[in-house]
This record gives sequence, structure tokens and C-alpha cells, in this order.
Amino acid sequence: MRQWHFLQFSLHPRHLESISAIIAEMGTRGIHEQPLNSGEVLLKAYFDPSSDIGRAHSHFRARCQAAAVPLSGCATGIEIERDWLKEWRRNLKPFPVGARFRIIPGRPVSGSAVRDRIPIWLEPRMAFGTGTHESTQLCLEVLETLPLTGRSVLDIGTGSGILAIASAKLGAEPVLACDIDPVAIQVARANCFRNRVDRRIRLFTGEVEALADRGYDVILANLEGKLIREKLNDFGQRLNPRGQLVLSGLLQPDAADLCRSANVQALPLTLLQDLAKGEWRCLVFTTKTHGTA
Ligand SMILES: C[S@@+](CC[C@H](N)C(=O)[O-])C[C@H]1O[C@@H](n2cnc3c(N)ncnc32)[C@H](O)[C@@H]1O
Repeated sequence: MRQWHFLQFSLHPRHLESISAIIAEMGTRGIHEQPLNSGEVLLKAYFDPSSDIGRAHSHFRARCQAAAVPLSGCATGIEIERDWLKEWRRNLKPFPVGARFRIIPGRPVSGSAVRDRIPIWLEPRMAFGTGTHESTQLCLEVLETLPLTGRSVLDIGTGSGILAIASAKLGAEPVLACDIDPVAIQVARANCFRNRVDRRIRLFTGEVEALADRGYDVILANLEGKLIREKLNDFGQRLNPRGQLVLSGLLQPDAADLCRSANVQALPLTLLQDLAKGEWRCLVFTTKTHGTA
């Protein structure tokens, strides 16, 4: 019978998404999540038996330390194969986001119509974007207020595809989504199919600079602060007049820095909204028109 190496630890749920992203980068084959009575969550991340789990352990602890995420009882072990992925799915429950969306882990089953909200069926697997992270939720909350019917959307760093799928379900067309991670693109493709928007969303692996086309009505970028600052000029140049540029994944200092940055001043952009959730901020810019400061 097959054996798996695993890393096991518990942490506060607010760190779940950032830690899952680190573990995904390390090449985990799956994560099992279990809420504890203490309010913490116990995570078990599985790795191939051929992996150097001792090294992975040291690397992981260093990454958590750098990200200032406290862990309890981080240990490694070996486990005989069982269907952890099935169990992991079973632990996830549908949840609402914003006023209009419901995120539903798994796939639609016949007779399970969702009438009160727009359903987004997701199987994030190794990609970021379960809908539980504040930075994703802020984007979804902005999206549901935008006029999207027939407008073009560019989703940079699509992860599980969640924002591209939400845009398509709100009527956006065409929708283009990219990610540097080929696994994320595979996952996003499966999720687009699951939500029956695969014909309306074009996915590609790579950075936005590889795109020849410009002129999007809405650009979404839930990335990391430094990366957004570096790419802001490019994003601004791809935005149509009166378009919206939605920047998320920003911590307070990043957001302040971005607003002050010479880039923003030099670009024909003006700040429309500044939203916060927990420690995360989301900035919405539009292109300046005559008479706008
Ligand atoms: C924080 S996740 C956002 C996922 C999803 N859009 C959401 O809102 O939940 C950021 C994603 O951006 C991708 N990424 C990082 N750097 C990138 C780059 N330079 N170009 C495109 N994608 C990038 C990562 O692989 C990751 O999937």
C-alpha cells in the first residue's frame, strides 16, 4: 500500500489561506483540514514519499517565521494512503460572499439549484482562491457592484479562477485570465468547466506582459503589494477609458504606498474606492477624465 509523507501543525484560521499558498508552492499533494475545539485549525499537508520531508519541514518553518505566522506543534510523519482528498472535500461547506455570491465546494449535482445567490462551484485543489480569503472576498464585493454586462475583464493571477468565473456569471465578456502557475491554470480550467463558463473565459499560463492586446474595461489583480507596484504602469496602460482597475492582496502599508507612489501620480488613474477587510485592503482606480483631479 502507498505511503505519504506529511507535515502537521495547527494555526489560527485567519492564516489558512497564506499558509495554504506556501504549502501549495512546496508541492503538496493535498491538505486535510480539521477545526479544533481551541478555535485553531489542524492542517495535515501530504507530500510524495520520495520528497525530503525533513528539508520541507525546515523550509516551511522558515517561511512561516518570515511571514510572522505562529504555528503550534509542527511535526512530520508517514501515513498509509487513505482517501484524504475526499475527506477534505467533505469538511468544506458552502458559504456566502458579499450580497450576491455563494461559494460551493465541489461540483453541481442535479437537483441542487441555488436560487437566492449566484453559485460558484469550486475545487481549488492546489490553487489559491477558495473564496475564504479577505483579499478575494473584497474583489468579489467590488465585482458585484460593477456594471459588467458585455464588458471585457482581465484577471491577472487567477488562481482557482474564482474572480474570472464570478465576472463571467455577472455577464462580462470576453474574460481573459492568466497565472504564472501552470497548475493554477489547470485548476481554473476545471472550475470554469464546472461552472459552465468555459466557453466565455480564455485562460493562459504566463505573465500579463506576454499579452499583446490592451484595452480592458475591468482589470482584476489580487497579487502581492510589491508585484502590483512594479506592474502598475502596465495595468494602467491596458485599462480602457472609464474602466476599473481592482487591486487587492494589499496590506495597509502597501495600499498607502501605492496611492502615494509616483506611478499612480504619473498614470491617468484616480482612486475610486478604498475598501478594507481584516488586515487587507482593496483599491479601485479608474482612468482620469478631464476635470478629474
Ligand atoms: C493571491 S492569488 C489570487 C487568486 C485569485 N485571483 C483570488 O483572488 O483568490 C495570486 C495568484 O497570482 C499568481 N501570480 C503570482 N505572480 C504572478 C504574475 N507575475 N503574473 C500572473 N500571475 C501571478 C499566483 O500563482 C497565484 O495563483
